[in-house]
Amino acid sequence: MSDIADMLAAANAARANAHAPYSGFAVGSCLRGKSGRLYAGCNVENAAYPQGQCAEATAIGVMVASGEKAIAAILVVADGPELVSACGGCRQRLREFAAADTPILVADRERMRAQFTLEQLLPHGFGPENLKP
Ligand code: THU
Repeated sequence: MSDIADMLAAANAARANAHAPYSGFAVGSCLRGKSGRLYAGCNVENAAYPQGQCAEATAIGVMVASGEKAIAAILVVADGPELVSACGGCRQRLREFAAADTPILVADRERMRAQFTLEQLLPHGFGPENLKP
């Protein structure tokens, strides 16, 4: 399988476990770390709605808990006619561990639909460098 096909398969497998009883909108995400390892996550909603977590945030938590902190690529998979390219909050979360040119791949369950860089989706973002003296 190609790198992207591997990421899509991992994101789809996580998406199948989404806990999305309130929105009914299941999302999966897969991060490829600089090491080449894959980290997948799904959205995890909550009866107290604002406590719900996006798939990308779950995948970031899995990556960090596994000991990796550098993202080489990001893939997001969801259904529907509109592209799901990471919400604003997750773009900022990704900014912590990704570079301006890190690809964000947008897919449906079968195939890639679009590709952006983090800089395109979060221009002039605030990141760790901003806190350096
Ligand atoms: N969601 C994600 O998991 N990732 C995104 O990029 C967009 C939105 C989730 C949050 C919520 O559980 C559901 O999709 C509907 O907003």
